[in-house]
Amino acid sequence: MNKTGSLILLLIALNIATSQIITIPIEKRVPEVENNSFLDDNEQAAIDQLINHSQFMYSGNIEVGNSKQTFNVDFDTGSNLLWLTSKSCSTCHQDGFKNSYDCNVADGCNMTTTPGSVSYVDGSGVFGHIAKVPVAIAGLAPSTQALLLVEKSVKNKGLQSDGLMGLGVYDEHNSNNVAFVNQLFKQGTISKSQFSFYLGFGEKESELIIGGVDNSKLANPSEIYYHPIILNGQQNDSQRWSVAIKSVSFGGQSVSLTSQNVAIVDSGTSLLVMRNDIYKQWIQYLKSVASLKTIMSGLTVFYSVKCGTTLPDLTFTLTDVNGVDRNYSLPSSFYLVKNGNICIIGVQGGSVTNDVQFLLGDVFMRRFVSVFDYTTLSMGLSQSVANPANAPNKAQKHSIESTIALGLALVAIAGLIFLTIRALRK
Ligand SMILES: *[C@@H]1O[C@H](CO)[C@@H](O)[C@H](O)[C@H]1NC(C)=O
Ligand SMILES: *[C@@H]1O[C@H](CO)[C@@H](O)[C@H](O)[C@H]1NC(C)=O
Ligand SMILES: *[C@@H]1O[C@H](CO)[C@@H](O)[C@H](O)[C@H]1NC(C)=O
Ligand SMILES: *[C@@H]1O[C@H](CO)[C@@H](O)[C@H](O)[C@H]1NC(C)=O
Ligand SMILES: *[C@@H]1O[C@H](CO)[C@@H](O)[C@H](O)[C@H]1NC(C)=O
Repeated sequence: MNKTGSLILLLIALNIATSQIITIPIEKRVPEVENNSFLDDNEQAAIDQLINHSQFMYSGNIEVGNSKQTFNVDFDTGSNLLWLTSKSCSTCHQDGFKNSYDCNVADGCNMTTTPGSVSYVDGSGVFGHIAKVPVAIAGLAPSTQALLLVEKSVKNKGLQSDGLMGLGVYDEHNSNNVAFVNQLFKQGTISKSQFSFYLGFGEKESELIIGGVDNSKLANPSEIYYHPIILNGQQNDSQRWSVAIKSVSFGGQSVSLTSQNVAIVDSGTSLLVMRNDIYKQWIQYLKSVASLKTIMSGLTVFYSVKCGTTLPDLTFTLTDVNGVDRNYSLPSSFYLVKNGNICIIGVQGGSVTNDVQFLLGDVFMRRFVSVFDYTTLSMGLSQSVANPANAPNKAQKHSIESTIALGLALVAIAGLIFLTIRALRK
């Protein structure tokens, strides 16, 4: 074995020895398409139905209360709050939530009078009050956590999980605004204040890792680069996991950006959302090298290509903590989302809201293992071993409908990022 190889092995061994990493298996949920209501000549009906579904999320289990009741939640780096439904919520039953949490003192749960809510851009939302309850993950020691107990659910049909866990930088409803993972670190449950995601293409291979990084998921464990989080000086929910993008490149073109052009690495966004003008420029370029088919869903435009087409890479350049520019390139096998025999470009244009101009969602996160570090307030990225060939290739009798489902769900999901902007607070 060469020197570099041994050094890498040694580093891996040291890493394992010095930091305990906790792996939480997460599942990739694929939309459940209800067959019979689809008519090929009635796309609008399909759209109306599917816009209510929030799909393609990655979810895993947490344990709540002294009784350690298990709930399956979506893990969302784009928001802060943990929410589950309460027993008394009749709209939650209507929206298909199956497991509610019954907050009572015997289970270690205290209700507060603080209202809380989360609103999605598509008009859906959850409303209720904050409880304080022990929350654990992967059998670790629990920490007291703020929990939004939902009393009213609006348009969340088809969410498929029991709720959502925000994994933001801060959590305003917790004491000292400390977020869940950072709390586990502060109480000594984990040895490094960070978490990371490995998002695979298969339905069962993905992982949320608490307290470190799973080196076996990195294409090259020596190549992980950290990027500073852009700090807004406020240690509350308004601080996000935002990084600056220096440029976006494709073909021979490169669009330069400034530190005002913020991207969020967001597990709650299924696609990749790009500032509209750059998106249009990119699509224009793709049209010059391949044949693109337009698919409208509502006001949002998506494009598909003939499956088997290879398109040029889409590259994001970010400056690391040492001032070195790092290129993160998405091959088309990563940004094309295959559904049956239709291959959609999994990137959409987005209008500029404040400074957030890019949502590097699951399409990006499958290519790069992403590390969220509370101690250094930085974000690590490293090429993943995820393989597009592992994507489940379900025989699609209803491929057109599924395709529309895909596009739409994503519009809804993209809304998750705006949760904290709209969250009401007392
Ligand atoms: C879709 O149709 C198939 C076969 O007709 C059936 O087995 C399946 O349960 C249906 N799925 C839904 C969600 O209705
Ligand atoms: C989707 O939501 C709209 C608006 O709330 C509602 O009118 C429609 O019935 C819903 N469709 C389904 C299939 O749930
Ligand atoms: C709930 O309140 C009791 C009594 O004030 C307190 O001892 C307990 O620590 C609280 N539990 C949580 C999870 O905040
Ligand atoms: C965060 O704190 C600042 C300053 O205290 C306040 O102006 C802002 O509204 C807060 N943001 C949120 C989302 O609560
Ligand atoms: C990174 O991408 C830019 C823009 O395409 C290119 O000019 C530069 O050479 C690339 N750097 C590396 C190290 O590949």
